[in-house]
Amino acid sequence: MYQDSGFESMQDFLDWAAPGSVEWRMARGLSPDRIPRHIAVIMDGNGRWAKRRRLPRAAGHSAGVRPVREIIEACCRLGVETLTLYAFSAENWKRPQAEIETLWALLRKYLRQELPDLKANGVRFQTIGQTDALPESVCNEIDRAIMETAANEGMRLNVALNYSGRAEIVEVVNDLLRQAHQCKQLVQVSERDVSERMCTASGGDPDLLIRTSGEFRVSNFLLWQIAYSEIWVTERYWPDFRTTDLLEALMVYQKRNRRFGGLPDQAEEAVAATVPASNGKLLAVNE
Ligand code: FPP
Repeated sequence: MYQDSGFESMQDFLDWAAPGSVEWRMARGLSPDRIPRHIAVIMDGNGRWAKRRRLPRAAGHSAGVRPVREIIEACCRLGVETLTLYAFSAENWKRPQAEIETLWALLRKYLRQELPDLKANGVRFQTIGQTDALPESVCNEIDRAIMETAANEGMRLNVALNYSGRAEIVEVVNDLLRQAHQCKQLVQVSERDVSERMCTASGGDPDLLIRTSGEFRVSNFLLWQIAYSEIWVTERYWPDFRTTDLLEALMVYQKRNRRFGGLPDQAEEAVAATVPASNGKLLAVNE
C-alpha cells in the first residue's frame, strides 16, 4: 500500500504510477491545479456484483474493500483534500441483520488492518452520521482510528455511517432553534449559519460526487452540501471500480464549466457568492 507520506500534489501520483501505464498517461492529461478539493462517493452495486457471479451479497461487500483502499491511496497521491465515502445510510438498517453484521465486521477488519497505513500517510480519519447507534465493538475501532489520526495533516477521510442528509439538516435546525431559544430573541438564519454547522463544514462542500452502478439518485447523501457539486455516474459496480475510473471522473470533471449559477466566463470565485454573509443576528450569540 501507499508507503510514502506527505502527499501534496498530483506529482506524487505521477512519481508513483508506472511510467507509460494507463494510470500514468491518464494522470498526465489532468490539470494539477483543477483537482477537486473534496470528492464524495456513493459506493453502490456490491449486491448486484455478487449476484452476477452467483455469490452471496456478503461477497460483494467484501470485494468492495479493495476499491476503498485503492481510491483512498489514489486520492492521497492526487492531492485531494477531503474524501467522503457513503458506507452505510440510515436506511440501510432495513437490510437483513446478517448483511448488516457483515458490513460491521468488514469495517472493523478494515480499520484494524489499515490504521497503520492511514497513520503513516497522514490521513485524518473521521466519520459522519449517527455512529452512537453502531455496535460497541465498531464504535471502539472508530474511536481509536479517529484518535490516532486526529493530529494528521494530510487528506481528510470521512466515512458516512448511519448517515442521512435529511437527518443532518434537521439536527442543524434544532441546534439553531436551541441557540435562538437561549438568546431569547427572534433570529433570522442565513445559509452560512447552516453551512458552518454541517458535519463536513471543515472540508468544504464536495466539488465532485461520484456514484457507481449506474443509478441516478443522491440517496439522502449530503443533501445540503451537494448543491453545486458536479455529478459523475458510472455503470461500473463498486467492487469493479478502479483508479482508472477515478481518473476518468476527474477528466470529465475538469472539462466541466462550473458556473455556480453565473455565466460561462465567470471565474469559480463566484462560489463565494453562493454563501451569503450571515445577517449577524444568530452569530451575535457567539460573539
Ligand atoms: C452499496 O451496495 C454498498 C453498501 C451499502 C456498503 C458499502 C460498503 C463497502 C464498500 C464495504 C467496506 C467499506 C469500508 C468503508 C471499509 P448495495 O449492497 O446497495 O448494492 P446493490 O444496490 O447492488 O444491492
